[in-house]
Amino acid sequence: MSERPLYLDNAATTAVDPAVIEAMIACLGSGGRFENPSSAHPGGASARRLVEAARERIAERVNASPGDIVFTSGATESNNLAILGAFDADERPNRHFVTTRIEHHSVLDTARALEARGIDLTYLDCDAEGVVTPQQVLDAVTDATVLVSIMHVNNEIGVIQDIEAIAQICATRQVRLHVDAAQSAGKIPLDLGGWGVDLCSLTAHKAHGPKGIGALYVADDVVLTPQLHGGEQERGLRAGTLATHQIVGMGKTFELARPDRDGPRLANLRDRLWKGLERIDGVRLNGCADRAAPHILNVCFPGIDGESLRLALADIAVSAGSACASDIPEPSHVLSSLGLSDALAQSSLRLSVGRFTEPADTERAVERIGTEVARLRTLAAGAPAWCSN
Ligand SMILES: Cc1ncc(COP(=O)(O)O)c(C=O)c1O
Repeated sequence: MSERPLYLDNAATTAVDPAVIEAMIACLGSGGRFENPSSAHPGGASARRLVEAARERIAERVNASPGDIVFTSGATESNNLAILGAFDADERPNRHFVTTRIEHHSVLDTARALEARGIDLTYLDCDAEGVVTPQQVLDAVTDATVLVSIMHVNNEIGVIQDIEAIAQICATRQVRLHVDAAQSAGKIPLDLGGWGVDLCSLTAHKAHGPKGIGALYVADDVVLTPQLHGGEQERGLRAGTLATHQIVGMGKTFELARPDRDGPRLANLRDRLWKGLERIDGVRLNGCADRAAPHILNVCFPGIDGESLRLALADIAVSAGSACASDIPEPSHVLSSLGLSDALAQSSLRLSVGRFTEPADTERAVERIGTEVARLRTLAAGAPAWCSN
């Protein structure tokens, strides 16, 4: 019997849980609810009830009120709506935005769009372990700051930022705080109401739900300008017919996602990976062991050519320390922010576990990676001098 494929790229996306698929099919199939949830007739009201039940489940998981949850197409859209929506709603002439250098591109590229409009930007640096301190936030905000946007868990190195402390600072300075929680929902408890977060981006597909559905938590006193026009859905903040089956899928995803139960299991799998890989000569951990999300491990194999390692491990689904958006791989902006050279960033791998990862998968991965690193080192040692670049 052939072995099942090794999938260790759950930070990129996850397999949809069978219970989520079942809930979505029940909604789409005969006897399901195809009607428009905004329609006034009984079928519409039934579809609306499904949408509202999903909203309640999601709100419960993140300690929010159901009315604070605005459905979107995913965290990218939520990040855009939060940031652009907050700036468009603030008419002061001199406005300032604070974010970090290690955000996802959906925040960084939106920040650049603001910069192009003449908005003043502060990018906070992280330390060598990927941590941004609450004090840095305090030092950066000014009377002109409209919004601070900081991710909860970094998607490449898994570092968890202290959102509770940062939220306290923002509240004291009367500045709004947006949190990108695409990677944390379902794995780490989120207490949006308790922490006093103003805006928070969520997505379903990182937590064993479907792609193309997410939400923005918008605290009830936050004013945003919508970025899509053409309908009054979602408190007027997000126009467009609600995708009932996707929303039902996201509701089921959040119902099943239990950080108290899943977090320790994922952390155990991550630790098994690290305990095995740690034995490889010279290996380094990228990130902060004391502030590590349970599902992400980022490791660097100094001296190993990243491209050769990726080719050697082509049968394992892992992520590299570079983004291949073009023919020439660019070193990851997150790893560069930790102070890694381009070569070290490119010699790094991200392994991320999920609900369907088995302990045996971690052992197979450790063995495969160990074998390939040793083989590449032997090859490099035997290479002629003209081949050393
Ligand atoms: C931290 C973070 N933010 C935002 C996104 C974008 O999420 P989505 O795919 O739901 O648009 C991702 C996914 O790659 C992510 O990891």
